[in-house]
Amino acid sequence: MPPLRIGPITVDTPVVLAPMAGVTNAAFRRLCRESGAGLYVAEMLTSRALVERSPESFRIISFEPDEVPRSVQVYGVDPATVGAAVRLLVEEDRADHVDLNFGCPVPKVTRRGGGAVLPWKRDLFASIVRAAVGAAQPAGVPVTVKMRKGIDEDHLTYVEAGLTAQDAGVAAVALHGRTAADYYSGTADWDAIATLKQAVTDIPVLGNGDIWSAEDALAMVAHTGCDGVVVGRGCQGRPWLFADLAAAFAGSDARIRPGLREVAGVVRRHAELMVDHFGDEDKALREMRKHMAWYFKGYVVGGELRAQLGLVSSLTQLDDLLGQLDLDQPYPGEASEGPRGRAGSPKRPILPYGWLDSRELSEDFRRDLHEAELSVSGG
Ligand SMILES: Cc1cc2nc3c(=O)[nH]c(=O)nc-3n(C[C@H](O)[C@H](O)[C@H](O)COP(=O)(O)O)c2cc1C
Repeated sequence: MPPLRIGPITVDTPVVLAPMAGVTNAAFRRLCRESGAGLYVAEMLTSRALVERSPESFRIISFEPDEVPRSVQVYGVDPATVGAAVRLLVEEDRADHVDLNFGCPVPKVTRRGGGAVLPWKRDLFASIVRAAVGAAQPAGVPVTVKMRKGIDEDHLTYVEAGLTAQDAGVAAVALHGRTAADYYSGTADWDAIATLKQAVTDIPVLGNGDIWSAEDALAMVAHTGCDGVVVGRGCQGRPWLFADLAAAFAGSDARIRPGLREVAGVVRRHAELMVDHFGDEDKALREMRKHMAWYFKGYVVGGELRAQLGLVSSLTQLDDLLGQLDLDQPYPGEASEGPRGRAGSPKRPILPYGWLDSRELSEDFRRDLHEAELSVSGG
């Protein structure tokens, strides 16, 4: 595979860590970066919170000095605010790459016309993308777009949105092969990624959805012809997947198969990095809880110990619990592989009343739209 080129950025291994709210902070990205070679996107932040300079936004865009490029994802619904947020990022030299999030399927967001249902309003989508590119261009910072296929199978937007983004000057587009209605159910539609790759010919097209192993990444490239892959849930509790991905793209079949001792070591290190990141042991360990089920998937841990790990509240307690594991346990194979993280069933997207009637944004919708930015929580 040739390197992935995102504007001036060259990514030797064409692999991107998907932005995941509550997961891909500086601590987790460090573990991924140490394992492999790719592009590692931070957690999403909202354009409004950034422009208002919320402390949480500045936590999200905190990068370690050795983290290059600094990849930031912005979610927004208003072209002026998105433009202002991107301007802040580049003028204050806080990002080397800006990704725009059009993938969020959460009802709180879609009911106001935000996230994955926004590209339906083609004028609004184009204005947001143009505003971001216009703000980033003077600094030479590339902007990319991450999206879903559309609202549902009857209201697909991805090919048109991909072409619009290309025309607006974005450096790459990424497609999660699901609609908003699919939520995280079923399997990602890799045929759609192939279709987008056929349509969008001037910039790289990245494929996203259901890569659980290095083999899946190669299979997606073979199936779709995409220029790179975006990996989300597959690396939850497995930051070393990036080592497998680097090996696979280099033509090697070397894979990391950690025994429980190694996994426990990574968990401990992750927790320490989280304490550094949050500057607050209590908060850091609370944030670590959700990672426990992912790390120990497939290993024999025992119900009681598993439950206690999921409630861990200090580094001392974590050490005590990790010490109770049967650390000589080898890699469990298949039991620790395959799907993990968010799943669920399809949901009919909740849309603003009359949203589907027109592909252009009316004044009524414009007035309500800002509320689509209030409680967004991912993609
Ligand atoms: C916990 C979680 C948080 C997410 N947060 C974001 C986000 O902030 N921005 C975004 O564009 N997508 C977000 N996503 C979607 C992922 O980036 C990715 O598109 C999706 O999980 C499909 O890829 P996968 O099958 O490799 O997981 C999130 C997904 C999960 C599971």
